[in-house]
Amino acid sequence: MSNLKAPSSPSPATNDFRSDTFTTPTPTMLAAMVNASFGDDVYQEDRITTEFQREIARLTGMEDALFMLSGTMGNQIGVRVHLNQPPHSVLCDYRAHVYAEEGSGLAVLSQAMVTPVHPANGIYLTLDDVKKWTVLGDDVHTAPTKVISLEVTLGGVITPMEEIQKISEFAHAHGVKVHCDGARLWNASAASGHSVSEYCQYFDTVSMCVSKGLSAPVGGVLASTYSNIKRARWLRKQQGGGIRQAGVLTAPALVALQEIWPTMKDTHEKTKKLEKDLAALGVVPQIPVDTNFYFIDAKRSHLDMGILLEQCGKFNVKLMDERISLHHQISDEAIESLKAAIAAAVQITKALSSGYVSKATSGGYYITSKMNEYS
Ligand SMILES: Cc1ncc(COP(=O)(O)O)c(C=O)c1O
Repeated sequence: MSNLKAPSSPSPATNDFRSDTFTTPTPTMLAAMVNASFGDDVYQEDRITTEFQREIARLTGMEDALFMLSGTMGNQIGVRVHLNQPPHSVLCDYRAHVYAEEGSGLAVLSQAMVTPVHPANGIYLTLDDVKKWTVLGDDVHTAPTKVISLEVTLGGVITPMEEIQKISEFAHAHGVKVHCDGARLWNASAASGHSVSEYCQYFDTVSMCVSKGLSAPVGGVLASTYSNIKRARWLRKQQGGGIRQAGVLTAPALVALQEIWPTMKDTHEKTKKLEKDLAALGVVPQIPVDTNFYFIDAKRSHLDMGILLEQCGKFNVKLMDERISLHHQISDEAIESLKAAIAAAVQITKALSSGYVSKATSGGYYITSKMNEYS
């Protein structure tokens, strides 16, 4: 114990706006790892893992739950449990992580075709979108839709509960299963006031993450019926996800629910405040800011993203693209620095487009005399 390194404080994520996945384990989580149970979870003998899974089953209102090594594993197995024999297809938003960001897992692991749908409202899928693109029947030319996967939140946006309900009722009426990529369902619940189980009642499988915004170092969890979870356990083993002393991973996950989840409301309020402050600079978002993400609309904000990323470096904040991601470890000081970087980038973009300022080869900017250019 005496050789244990103290957790770095403050977290290295205090100025990291790239993603809420950069959150780091808290001292309580590290202490929980040291004091974890060390049973073998392949034999389902680990006390804390069982406790964590029971807690997720309780929160989701599902029969059972299974710890997953990542959100990707939870999604891929969550969809896979519903699929038997191709031809079959999965319908989802064209931006959905399960389709666009999981290394073609649906094609490789489930032999599934995907119907990526652009929501007509540009924000979230509605029943109309789903009705238009769901493939039903037994036409031999088609790959019938067997699963509809909804991501909640997607881009930080919460699909309204009534829409989820309508999509779910339509799907079930046609024998189609509904999966939720609920990596950030915690955020949806904290922001909307609807409980996690209110959302989950409309889904057959729900995958949630504990390492996005919640600070646990590893993992996610899949919730569903007893029989689906039994099959998921088998598929997880097949994918190399049978975890022996899983308690060291599920102990911090339990702490994440108790210690970090309640702080999400605060993070959302800070994101809303940021939206307001950026509006004063003429900066606007691409999509509604419902939770912890703000996507800069660079075009409508007349902002050059290259210049903004450069200014972020100067103001010591980390950003990688248009997405500003807030989380509980972001400091108030970092938010002020980010706003200063954005304000500077707005000014430089404006000055460059006016033609009175040019970029120097050294990387800085210099005043040019437009008058001289034309004299
Ligand atoms: C919405 C969503 N689902 C799933 C995942 C996958 O999670 P992981 O990186 O743990 O595989 C992510 C990752 O950021 C995500 O944003």
